[in-house]
Amino acid sequence: MIDGFYILFYLQRVESWYSVTPEKVAQHIASRCKASDVVIDGFYILFYFQRVESWYSVTPEKVAQHIASRCKASDVVIDGFCGCGGNTIQFAAVCQKVISIDIDPAKLRLAQHNASVYGVSHKIQFIQGDFFALAPSLQGDVVFLSPPWGGPEYARSSFSIDNIFPEQGGGRRLFQVARGISPNVGYYLPRTSDVFELIPLAGEGNVCEVEQNFVGRKFVAITAYYGNLVRRKDRAS
Ligand SMILES: C[S@@+](CC[C@H](N)C(=O)[O-])C[C@H]1O[C@@H](n2cnc3c(N)ncnc32)[C@H](O)[C@@H]1O
Repeated sequence: MIDGFYILFYLQRVESWYSVTPEKVAQHIASRCKASDVVIDGFYILFYFQRVESWYSVTPEKVAQHIASRCKASDVVIDGFCGCGGNTIQFAAVCQKVISIDIDPAKLRLAQHNASVYGVSHKIQFIQGDFFALAPSLQGDVVFLSPPWGGPEYARSSFSIDNIFPEQGGGRRLFQVARGISPNVGYYLPRTSDVFELIPLAGEGNVCEVEQNFVGRKFVAITAYYGNLVRRKDRAS
């Protein structure tokens, strides 16, 4: 079975990132393909580009396992931006049910495929659509947010959540939309995020917990937890 994304997951499992084509090189090759006037099977190209993008947008497996372990007491987890399934698969491994949403049907197909490789498809309801539009109709115990960060630029300087979906009111509004479903929210964000933007999201008198996520020694991201996902005993809400 030759499937690029399955290979990616395999590489993550054995932590052999060395053998993955470096992102910049992959981007360069992709840009050369884009400019090409050779008629190549469109579906293959679509998958090719999806794979390149998914290489840098998927949550590393060990991090996704850890985040899922913090949500394992939950019956229903909503993964609002499931991509190719990095988090969804790990939630499904430890929770009763996962509702996994993505606006991009090609990403959903990859997620469905990857979930079947991991044997967890029966626990996942996949929905294609816009999280903002679907949110009022969703019910769940935990909402996990792993929105697009806008490409690799996030790594260069301090990241503001205002850069997330600016056309929808930014990352603060996204958080409020999620909180309309459940007070228990996990927000997966760039390591360069300004934590002083994340603390007030908890609301007055409440606390949030901001966790740094490492793969080996590499600081890859942060996850902010709200509601009963916060481990402190004196949490409110
Ligand atoms: C960073 S990726 C998620 C990666 C995922 N956590 C994983 O580990 O595979 C963000 C995803 O959000 C999706 N997306 C973008 N806008 C969306 C929207 N309005 N509603 C739902 N999904 C959206 C993109 O298609 C992309 O797959």
